[in-house]
Amino acid sequence: MSNLSIESLATFCKKKGFVYQNSEIYNSIAGFFDYGPYGVDLKNNIKQEWWKYHVTSRPDIVGIDGSIITHPKVWEASGHAANFADIMLTCKKCKTKIRADHFIEDKLKIPADGMSPEEINTLINKNNLKCPSCKDDFEKVSHFNLMFSTNVGPVASKDSQTFLRPETAQVIFTNFKLVTENARLKLPFGIAQIGKAFRNEISPRDFLFRAREFEQMEIEYFIHPEKSDECPFLSTMLKHKVLVYSEEMQKKKQKPAQLSMKECLDKKIIKTPWHAYFLALEHQWFISLGANKDNFRIRQHVQTEKSHYALDTWDLEYQFPFGWKELQGLANRTDFDLQQHMKHSKQDLTLFDEEQKKKIVPNVVCEPSLGVGRAFLVFMFDAYTDDKKRGNIVLKLHPKLAPVKAAVLPLVNKLDKDARKVFDDLIKSFPCTYDKPGSVGRRYARADELGIPYCITFDFDSKTDKAVTIRDRDSTKQVRVKIIDLPDTLFSLLYNDIKFEKAGKPVKTS
Ligand code: GLY
Repeated sequence: MSNLSIESLATFCKKKGFVYQNSEIYNSIAGFFDYGPYGVDLKNNIKQEWWKYHVTSRPDIVGIDGSIITHPKVWEASGHAANFADIMLTCKKCKTKIRADHFIEDKLKIPADGMSPEEINTLINKNNLKCPSCKDDFEKVSHFNLMFSTNVGPVASKDSQTFLRPETAQVIFTNFKLVTENARLKLPFGIAQIGKAFRNEISPRDFLFRAREFEQMEIEYFIHPEKSDECPFLSTMLKHKVLVYSEEMQKKKQKPAQLSMKECLDKKIIKTPWHAYFLALEHQWFISLGANKDNFRIRQHVQTEKSHYALDTWDLEYQFPFGWKELQGLANRTDFDLQQHMKHSKQDLTLFDEEQKKKIVPNVVCEPSLGVGRAFLVFMFDAYTDDKKRGNIVLKLHPKLAPVKAAVLPLVNKLDKDARKVFDDLIKSFPCTYDKPGSVGRRYARADELGIPYCITFDFDSKTDKAVTIRDRDSTKQVRVKIIDLPDTLFSLLYNDIKFEKAGKPVKTS
């Protein structure tokens, strides 16, 4: 686990141009964030890598990009209008409002997600818990729907009211029939989407972790309802190991255990091969982009915390400095949503099974749902290194995620014109930066702090040998490369994972 606090990470993100609190000049508004010049590219790179891994590199998953505002009936059908609520505590005197489960977890150190209003009222009374602001009593708890409402058109009325989507998933269900026909999909298949979602959190907290406006990367994976045991991809993941914390382990107060997916299935800890496959796939995605595999575990939801649509849910969790928290929920939503939309829209959303010659309603056997902001935090925490020897922070972001791929530096001012020519050529192929002022050491430190994987120095020999020195951010090793070969070399380093020492002629450094 990183020993950097979430507050220190937020400070670093602001100072270095990754993330700002929204509307800071007006004292900010809680739960909303703006991404700065480096944050926007890091966020876009995360989304691009997710899309490549889950959509464009595999034939069974296609993508869509849906609207944020949809017909209000969507939320009646999905159950969000009735069920998408948190329990809220309101102070009798100062009217401070706080989320009840978080308050109980903080004060009593017990899991409280999914507790009923009665259980919460009892715990508050039994433990004599008071308002943290004015120390007065709380009113009886109440439900608070998390959807942001808005009106469509010039006249605000009950009929014009709708909501900003609290999850991207529903647009996948409402477009299900069109997408399957257009993309000629045959079960099993997935439909993916990256987009904004909004939740009017009672108490947003922990920087990007619990924001009111955020982006999701979601897949609804549909299978034949009678084929939940047939996952054609499972063999690739059977040996994958992860720390596992099942519902039973939690109930029996056992410790999580390192298990392979095969062990989880053999021991019936994970019920379907699909769930095992996706949990391993998602863990591997993070690892493939440089996250520390040991900072993750998978945890099954206990009965009381499952969403209204879920048969079984596992979270991929990450060990944040503020505890193990959900990064990604992977729910088995069964045919709940398609059935609901068929009922409410009176449209036929079935598929025809050619073998059995009958209509079937596909099941969503797994819905991997990941917040972009949460993935952003993981990559920042695992990259952030306080290098005492160098005397600066080194942000060891995977080169594919790094917002800026290279910094071009003239060794001294008088080499500015020639170095800038190298930069002007390179920026046509890669996001890179040019840094002239200050000592080379200071400029290396600036690049390290922004996570720039490679610094390219034009020195006194460069004019004669037509070569430059590339310095590797993580090892500080250097190689000499011909200027003409620079784009190809950089491409291989960034995207083909070649060993740095093989990229050019090694340079001895003191
Ligand atoms: N679609 C699942 C979620 O937003 O939590």
